[in-house]
Amino acid sequence: MIDVLLGLQWGDEGKGKIVDFLASKYDIIARFQGGPNAGHTLYVNGTKVVLHTIPSGVFHTHCLNLIGNGVVIDPVTLQKEIDKVLPLQPDMLQRLYVSSKAHLILPTHRALDAASEAAKGQDKIGSTLKGIGPAYMDKTGRNGLRVGDILSKNFKQKYDKLTQKHLEMLRQYEHQVDWRQWEDAFFESVEYIRSLQIVNGEYWLDMHLKDGKEVLAEGAQGSMLDIDFGTYPFVTSSNTIAAGVCSGLGVAPSRIGDVYGITKAYCTRVGGGPFPTELLDETGEELRKAGSEFGATTGRPRRCGWIDLVALRYTVMLSGVTKLIVTKADVLDEFNPIKAATAYLIDGKETKELPFDLCTEDITPVYQEFDGWDKPIGSCVNYDELPHVFKDYCRFLEQYLETKISYVSNGTGRDQLLAIP
Ligand code: GDP
Ligand code: IMO
Ligand code: MG
Repeated sequence: MIDVLLGLQWGDEGKGKIVDFLASKYDIIARFQGGPNAGHTLYVNGTKVVLHTIPSGVFHTHCLNLIGNGVVIDPVTLQKEIDKVLPLQPDMLQRLYVSSKAHLILPTHRALDAASEAAKGQDKIGSTLKGIGPAYMDKTGRNGLRVGDILSKNFKQKYDKLTQKHLEMLRQYEHQVDWRQWEDAFFESVEYIRSLQIVNGEYWLDMHLKDGKEVLAEGAQGSMLDIDFGTYPFVTSSNTIAAGVCSGLGVAPSRIGDVYGITKAYCTRVGGGPFPTELLDETGEELRKAGSEFGATTGRPRRCGWIDLVALRYTVMLSGVTKLIVTKADVLDEFNPIKAATAYLIDGKETKELPFDLCTEDITPVYQEFDGWDKPIGSCVNYDELPHVFKDYCRFLEQYLETKISYVSNGTGRDQLLAIP
């Protein structure tokens, strides 16, 4: 079976840490969408590692890791990442597989990302500028280059043809980037990628599933950044919800088992776009400080706010989440009261449904307040030790979301994860 793990908010829910923890139960960890815009933080023997393209199972010697066809790969970032991980995990290359159908991010994709964002001015998406949008545009526009193409003799011709097209597009923009400076490194890394284990991911997974292997699909970004259901246009360019697993790995829906949905005990967002429960006051600043809320990929300060149960109920529904995981519960230790948005007030009417376009609506969140707790959650080592008020808070979340909480994460460490009975 394939279980799925994904973020239920706007990303950075702690997916990397949880996959690293759950990896001991799985034979294969597979990424199914996104690319170097992702930043998944893990602590391996006390050392902090941020993964962008490599699946978070890489630090478990029994785990195989697949970069699926739904991922977009920047060869340069992937090589750099491998160089960083190799000294910590010398056998990693034997356990890393790349789908031949994964699309490539070219230097001109990055230039187009930068130019398009600059042209948007105030309305910019706040993209990570890794070339994600333009690479997915070429995929759906049927122009893209894939990992399998780098094995063909005329790769350079294909590259030149696509780059020419991009040059035409770049001419429309005022903002110009010297992308030629990235070309040498790109071709060097393309050479390097040739030496990796390139497979037909869909057949490779089918073989392992028939062999009884357990697979965990690792989501990137968060459900509210989904291209179809997120806060469009302030989204990423892939399907981040569970549906993305089938197309992003080439597996049938009947093979999907549990869906782990991760939410922080509060909420964050990086980049532009609507965020109804955002706190622009001191409390927001305190959340940022207590949660060290700075982007793992870009270092940008993350916007912070209270947990939004209207949005969470929506994303739990979209992916059919069977097991909830609440992370960063320890961050709320110092806060009293703690708030959770249970409805939106729009035009004087209360609703528990997300409106068509969050950007155009004037939304006032309706909050339910909870007492803070009197002992730090970070030092708890099992469920029984958790403060009663926190347990009540968890029961409330479960009832509202109609989904069981399986784990609560109470620190950055690999083992700071409490199973909830
Ligand atoms: P991802 O993109 O979903 O993998 O999340 P990121 O790695 O971008 O951001 C999550 C951040 O929160 C990382 O710095 C983690 O080390 C940290 N983190 C994860 N779980 C917890 C937790 O339970 N408590 C605290 N304090 N930090 C956590
Ligand atoms: P992980 O996997 C948080 C955001 C960007 C921007 C929007 C579009 O670490 O949770 P893109 O580069 O995709 O064109 O950016 O999406 N974004 C993320 N925010 N975590 C991420 O990944 C993100 N990946 C993209 O900030 O607002
Ligand atoms: Mg992240």
